[in-house]
Amino acid sequence: MIQVAFYDTKEYDKAAFEPYGAQKDIRFRFLETKLNADTVALAEGCDAVCVFVNDQVDAAVIDRLHQYGVRLIALRSAGYNNVDVRAAYGKLHVVHVPAYSPYAVAEHAMALLLTSVRRIHKAYNRTREFNFSLNGLTGFDFHGKTVGVIGTGKIGRIFIDICRGFGMRVLAYDKYPSQDGGIEYAPLERLFEESDILSLHCPLTEETTHLIDADAIQKMKKGVVIVNTSRGGLIDAEALLEGIKARKIGAACLDVYEEEADIFFEDRSGHILNDDLLSRLISMPNVIVTSHQAFLTREALGNIAETTVNNIRSCFDRDGLCDNELCYRCGSIEQCKKDRKERCF
Ligand code: NAI
Repeated sequence: MIQVAFYDTKEYDKAAFEPYGAQKDIRFRFLETKLNADTVALAEGCDAVCVFVNDQVDAAVIDRLHQYGVRLIALRSAGYNNVDVRAAYGKLHVVHVPAYSPYAVAEHAMALLLTSVRRIHKAYNRTREFNFSLNGLTGFDFHGKTVGVIGTGKIGRIFIDICRGFGMRVLAYDKYPSQDGGIEYAPLERLFEESDILSLHCPLTEETTHLIDADAIQKMKKGVVIVNTSRGGLIDAEALLEGIKARKIGAACLDVYEEEADIFFEDRSGHILNDDLLSRLISMPNVIVTSHQAFLTREALGNIAETTVNNIRSCFDRDGLCDNELCYRCGSIEQCKKDRKERCF
């Protein structure tokens, strides 16, 4: 029986994972708290921890998990910037869910964009109060506009297809441009200068932290709409706020926020929000914030549960080989994935 401490559990996680717990080879200890230095002891006696995007799995937490005999960190997300994979090497195996529904995220990015540009959120509130005025609801056509897409992986490509359906011109930037053609790549500077809409679909790394900062914003078109469904740290939120106040940024659609860890996913209504920057952003008429919701579709939750359980089972199998392992044996996670023929350690 594989015992799994399941951190940051929400009702929808439980509903998706519980059926696997009935299958006798795996048991989940569902915990509402997030994993961090204060809560790591709750994993004692477990073989694995299952974590999400705001669990903090740094070197110190990894050492404690190792001491408790935990052997696996199973991320139920694609992004893994919250896990120190380098520190885990040689101690704990790390697996993730590389793709569960890129459609869910790409479609949410477009939903945010349409809501913002066509002022649907404002119209919804007005008509509920029988206010049928159109003043202040003017949007703009997507057709013929330029959308700059940063990161053309699984989600970025689907977002590109959706944008093409609207008749938009797509300009893309990726550190590793795709070789199979069909996408017009350009340097970041050109994306900043030419895009009416910018959408972020690259991972958060040291290199991409604050990719959108005051300098970048200064190069952008006046009225640019910025969409971030990737990771909050890609945007310097203070610079974003300044850009909005200066009327340089036309709108911002944010599903993620750099300091979201203690705020998002929880009901904070009735409490005073201690994050002034987020409060100020939310108070802006041209900012829409969703609470890291882009992944949340039935299909995605089902795929996350299935892949996570398969990942856990493969790691505890005899050969322990798991296609979705992240490791640093080869000095690069991507290289390691390509060459792996045996367990990483
Ligand atoms: P992916 O790995 O398929 O694609 C990422 C792309 O970014 C790759 O083409 C890669 O070459 C590119 N890239 C890497 N470093 C770069 C850099 N320095 N500059 C520009 N591009 C760079 O990942 P996928 O599945 O498309 O996911 C993208 C991001 O979306 C994830 O990293 C994650 O942070 C975020 N995400 C957000 C969710 C949400 O609910 N809001 C859910 C799932 C993912």
